[in-house]
Amino acid sequence: MSPDRPELMAALAAAQRWLDTVGSRPVPAAEDIDALTERFAGPLPAHGRRADEVVRKLASAVEPGLLAIGSPRFFGWVMGGTLPAALAADWLVSAWDQNAGMRDATPGVVAAEDAAARWILEALGLPATAAVGFVTGATMANFTALASARDALLAGIGWDQATLGMSGSPRIRVLAGAERHSSVDMALRYLGLGAPELVGVDAQGRMDAAELRHTLDADQAPTIVCVQAGNIHSGAFDPFTEIVDAAHEAGAWVHVDGAFGLWAGAAAALIGLVGGMAGADSWATDAHKTLNTPYDSGIAIVADPGALSRAFGHSAAYLLHSEVPDPHEKVPELSRRARGVPVWAALAALGRDGLAELVQGLVDAAQLLARGLAGLPGVAVLNEVVYTQVVIALIDDAITARVLELLLDEGLVRPSGSSWQGRSVIRFSVSNHGTDAEAVAQTVGAVAEALDSARRHLG
Ligand SMILES: Cc1ncc(COP(=O)(O)O)c(C=O)c1O
Repeated sequence: MSPDRPELMAALAAAQRWLDTVGSRPVPAAEDIDALTERFAGPLPAHGRRADEVVRKLASAVEPGLLAIGSPRFFGWVMGGTLPAALAADWLVSAWDQNAGMRDATPGVVAAEDAAARWILEALGLPATAAVGFVTGATMANFTALASARDALLAGIGWDQATLGMSGSPRIRVLAGAERHSSVDMALRYLGLGAPELVGVDAQGRMDAAELRHTLDADQAPTIVCVQAGNIHSGAFDPFTEIVDAAHEAGAWVHVDGAFGLWAGAAAALIGLVGGMAGADSWATDAHKTLNTPYDSGIAIVADPGALSRAFGHSAAYLLHSEVPDPHEKVPELSRRARGVPVWAALAALGRDGLAELVQGLVDAAQLLARGLAGLPGVAVLNEVVYTQVVIALIDDAITARVLELLLDEGLVRPSGSSWQGRSVIRFSVSNHGTDAEAVAQTVGAVAEALDSARRHLG
């Protein structure tokens, strides 16, 4: 790098320091938010300072507060790691500083995003003609796809939402499984659609297709059915074939929230999990989870490109307009970062084989982890480990809570807590390409130790 960019050299040095140690350091941040806030105390400086000094100061102030999400022993929430090519591409996106809303203004990054979109559809077995919008995450992908659904259903009964709005609009009914992700509710709220009507689920959280059919028959209002590829606890997939058939017979729109599960379609041995899913009308997923691109990166996919354009199409005299929808017409933002570029880099670095190995590797590690944990006395694995999630409970809620506390304090591994089906649970989400057999063995060992000491402590 040219020495006249000392701030970039400083950033590279800090990044290398972090990346070289992220796999071996304790997972939790070394300092808490109060200590970190103190580091940033003080008013806006009266005068500026050199960019490289700013970068060094920023890195040294933030580093004690970094959570090692990139560690192979990080299993919290569903967060993913970062592939090297995707990280480097993300840096370039910042350096290039393209406002990637208009095809003809920033054709380089738009062409790369178009290629990423094609590759995603191909890899996941989704219709090649679907429209793809690159957004910040699955919450916004759900929002984007559900906006398309809402406006298409209203247009189908003669109500143009773009001009008439939602006040006084005909009712749209939304059905979702009782264990849908909370971001679906958020998206529906932002869209003025209210809370969904809930459909029952089985012991793994999969929607009951027979109950759905019955519920669809009970009301003829235009309907959206929200289904799920990857339950946040069990990792389970809804029975898409039956659901899509029943919903389409009733004229309903089917939306799939596949924030981390959509990627099952990329691995041959997992394709059964997503059977029938390609027949849905829209899909939401993240690249920052299973695909391991840096934050933030989500993907909205809509089978009918016209429906996405109806919801987000936009023109203004001062903008450039191309013959096909511009990137800003597929997402809620006008100005936008070229988030699809790191996606392109991740897919280019992996290839079809590498992508399949990445997804299958996460599932293999989850299953190995589940076997190891199930072998510990008093540990029950509560879910069928068909994908990347492992949920355990211990003898009772008090021991579960104590074991989690000990694991978080000790800091070698980082699962997260939750409650599922009336029990306190510990969730392990295997989402990082670096999680190997050694990381799994260390994790099982850490849980065994925490369990021993919780038992001694609680008698
Ligand atoms: C199933 C599901 N849907 C949606 C989301 C929201 O994704 P994001 O946090 O990227 O907006 C998540 C996050 O974990 C999820 O697991």
